[in-house]
Amino acid sequence: MDGLPPAAAGGEDVVSEEALEVPPPETVHEEVLVLDFGGQYSQLIARRIRECGVYAELLPHDTDLELIAERRPAALVLSGGPASVYSEGAPELRQGLLELEIPVLGICYGMQAMVRSLGGRVEPAEAGEFGRTELTLSAGGGRLLAGLPETQQAWMSHRDSVFEAPQGFAALAASPGSPVAALENIDRGLYGIQFHPEVAHTPYGQQILDRFLRQIAGCGEQWSPASVIDEQVARVRAQVGDAGVICGLSGGVDSATAAALVHRAIGEQLTCVFVDHGLMRKNEAEQVVESMRELGVNLVHVDAEERFLARLAGVEDPERKRMIIGEEFIRVFEGEAERLPDVRYLVQGTLYSDVIESGGDGRGADTIKSHHNVGGLPEDLGFDLVEPLRMLFKDEVRAVAAELGLSDRLVWRQPFPGPGLGIRIVGGEVNRERLDILRDADAVLQEEIRAAGLYRDLWQSFCVLPVVRSVGVQGDGRTYAYPIVIRAVTSQDAMTADWARLPYDLLERVSNRIINEVPGVNRVALDISSKPPATIEWE
Ligand code: XMP
Repeated sequence: MDGLPPAAAGGEDVVSEEALEVPPPETVHEEVLVLDFGGQYSQLIARRIRECGVYAELLPHDTDLELIAERRPAALVLSGGPASVYSEGAPELRQGLLELEIPVLGICYGMQAMVRSLGGRVEPAEAGEFGRTELTLSAGGGRLLAGLPETQQAWMSHRDSVFEAPQGFAALAASPGSPVAALENIDRGLYGIQFHPEVAHTPYGQQILDRFLRQIAGCGEQWSPASVIDEQVARVRAQVGDAGVICGLSGGVDSATAAALVHRAIGEQLTCVFVDHGLMRKNEAEQVVESMRELGVNLVHVDAEERFLARLAGVEDPERKRMIIGEEFIRVFEGEAERLPDVRYLVQGTLYSDVIESGGDGRGADTIKSHHNVGGLPEDLGFDLVEPLRMLFKDEVRAVAAELGLSDRLVWRQPFPGPGLGIRIVGGEVNRERLDILRDADAVLQEEIRAAGLYRDLWQSFCVLPVVRSVGVQGDGRTYAYPIVIRAVTSQDAMTADWARLPYDLLERVSNRIINEVPGVNRVALDISSKPPATIEWE
């Protein structure tokens, strides 16, 4: 439902059909399936379960019972969702779902849908509950909430409430707007909570999930991001046999991790191609090359700067810039791929959130800008795909990257757009002179942010070069030079973002250093806009 805290807000997509095509990892014996009713926090539920050491995956709420039964999950979790159980077309539980003899935990909408299907009473409450709410336990918290304080805070987000539990259920807790805020039927293995255990604002949330998983579903602690490595190594070997495999490196952590993982599986059969478009930050291209060479990966480093800059000459329109960079990137990559013998597979660093959000129903992460994948490779290059990170969340990829021995700098690199600095030179042509100014200014910002220990706290931090000049005075002379805009944001997923409150002394150092050290700049400004209504990038 609405009213969720912006810091944790994610996409609202119900998990895509595509997720169904992904076979479960073969060596995982114990898994929990989260049936997605469209809640903002569905992904977060899966992540929290994985944090308990139990593999979890999201499936659409109306997944076939046969498919669920076949996978023999240790438990099912029914997520929250934006609908009212009474509204027309509201997603319902599949008939028979609660009879599979698999423990079920319903959360928010998931609990209401369960209660409704079993004959309990769910009705609109006088006022909904949104945000921190006091929860009072009854019956000692029953099995699910045993051992927790009698009163505690919980994060709520609902308009309807459960007024009466179905027959055979015990009510375990209440809040001012929810007469039944938690319930259970131990014999049938059915449990429900109205609040969100997955958000940080529910202090005992993780403990409740942990209790459900271990005490009720009998799960052990088998899964970790690192356990993915062995599993994927075996899988990649089985998939590609002795064929050649190619991987495009973008300079980011995803493609580097995918490459390192595939390299561990098939060594020399893998060739990485790094198309250096000349739009990277200072020294970043070198770092990528070095990192891969250290791991012993076959690497083709294509210095294509001149090609890209020639095509970008005179282009001011941001969409044209994106298109040119995207097209050129694919052309260069294809050229390299043709030269390699017997390549049949392409490695992509697709993540689990991409899989979930590419639902194809038009409500995905691409509703604001349609070109977020510009600077990547399309799937129709004629190769079969190898996607070893397809089941991982971003933070899990970092854990895998560290385990595989990638350098800290690469592991923790902030997201960087495919078209690179090409979309950070705004309102004018991208050329070498401007790129060098932007790169030097950006290097100062990065250095100072790292020195202040803030790099990992920021989602992104970078400089923008608007192509305008203004007057300044330096020494005895008048200057007429570019401004540099500092953009630093905090965010969970780039869907929403807030401008970072960088300390004044840090800003002062950055400003002084940029103006003194970077010729061509006489002014530094700070972008203090949040997203929405602004975006993170300027173009
Ligand atoms: P905006 O600017 O829309 O950006 O708030 C959200 C996130 O997407 C990144 N971004 C891109 N990534 N190609 C990419 O690969 C692009 O064309 C592109 N445009 C924006 C941006 O850096 C931020 O992380």
